[in-house]
Amino acid sequence: MAYTCVEMIETKRDGRKLTPESIEWLLTAYTRDEVPDYQMSALAMAIVFNGLDPEELAAWTEAMLNSGDVMDFSGLPAPKIDKHSTGGVGDKVSIPLAPLAAVCGVAVPMMSGRGLGHTGGTLDKLESIPGFTTRLDPVRFREILFDHGVVLAGQSETIAPADRKLYALRDATGTVPSIPLIASSIMSKKLAEGLDGLVLDVKTGSGAFMKDIERSRELARTMVGIGTAHGVETVALVTSMEQPLGREVGNASEIMESVAVLRGEGPPDLVELTLALGEVMLELGGIDAGADRLRSAIEDGSGLEKLVEVAEAHGGDPSVLRDPDLLPRAPNEDVMSAAQSGYVTRCDALVVGSVATRLGAGRERKEDEIDPGVGITLEAKIGDEVTKGSVLARVRYRDESVWESHKDHLATAWEIGPAPVAPPTLVVERIP
Ligand code: URA
Repeated sequence: MAYTCVEMIETKRDGRKLTPESIEWLLTAYTRDEVPDYQMSALAMAIVFNGLDPEELAAWTEAMLNSGDVMDFSGLPAPKIDKHSTGGVGDKVSIPLAPLAAVCGVAVPMMSGRGLGHTGGTLDKLESIPGFTTRLDPVRFREILFDHGVVLAGQSETIAPADRKLYALRDATGTVPSIPLIASSIMSKKLAEGLDGLVLDVKTGSGAFMKDIERSRELARTMVGIGTAHGVETVALVTSMEQPLGREVGNASEIMESVAVLRGEGPPDLVELTLALGEVMLELGGIDAGADRLRSAIEDGSGLEKLVEVAEAHGGDPSVLRDPDLLPRAPNEDVMSAAQSGYVTRCDALVVGSVATRLGAGRERKEDEIDPGVGITLEAKIGDEVTKGSVLARVRYRDESVWESHKDHLATAWEIGPAPVAPPTLVVERIP
């Protein structure tokens, strides 16, 4: 049977069902550049509106997975466990967590992504360590994993190439926020890692792609369903992304804050989430008392030593991890001040993430370069008491006119009220 993309677009546009065979054909042809981006983006938009049913989703994920290689690390003595976040603002958890989990006895073949929309990407953050390469061929990926128990790389050319193309296209066509597209994108890459277990951090709230808890829960259940159907024990934590995680939003500054976590000096919310996700990773690896073990790896410095070791293996300059003041820093700084006294009731992750992106911490177009030294340090988050004129945030920027044009927008991130409020609960729910 011959398929055409235009028929598939019409089928989805009209709310009808795609056959598994047509999906397999489409994603193979798209990977081979035989389907143009404009047709694929029209289909992606139809999926944003009309979704994929479970059978379509299974076929879509399978076709994305089979568009490339599946890694086999069966020779490793430790259980292979990864963690993946659906994307947030200030979410640098992978950077302290991967070495901590490795020190505690699981192997972490972590394949991360770049910033998408207003969210930051682990790869972009790691690349602010001078020399650190996240582009590894499969042989080097394997070597680092076997030698150090952890590797922090990007998706190689051979892993889910259909997703590589589609991910970049979706970023540029407003077609990211779709449960089946996000679930198949993430899970096709994760299933290619040859894992024993997977922990998903599914963000919910203003700075997440899924803003309301129902949709976040559905995304979590969908991904857990895909993982389990493929024999990978998968657990999701649904976690709050109403406000940025930690105090730093940027690239180099998020490396600095990751190092602070490993030194036992991290901000409480970032530490809480790192331990919560790490505990589940260790549980899936059959290791009990996970939170205590992770805390010990912070206290005795072994987590930081592991990050230094793995950064060196990736070609990175370890001196910036021992002395984060050596990390790149933009030349200019300004502050946002509180317009009134009271308690912070809102510190909007979407606004902070969008402004950081515009300052150069993320990309507006696929080909844009990241500026590692720009960023926003939050001095006041939800629940904090502030007085009129006190500093809400410090902003590091390169270009005066760019900062001037986003200053007013950043000011809308905060709301200050007269009564004390509690910060949002960070870990909202676990599935299953
Ligand atoms: N992260 C991914 O890997 N894919 C998406 O679609 C969204 C976030």
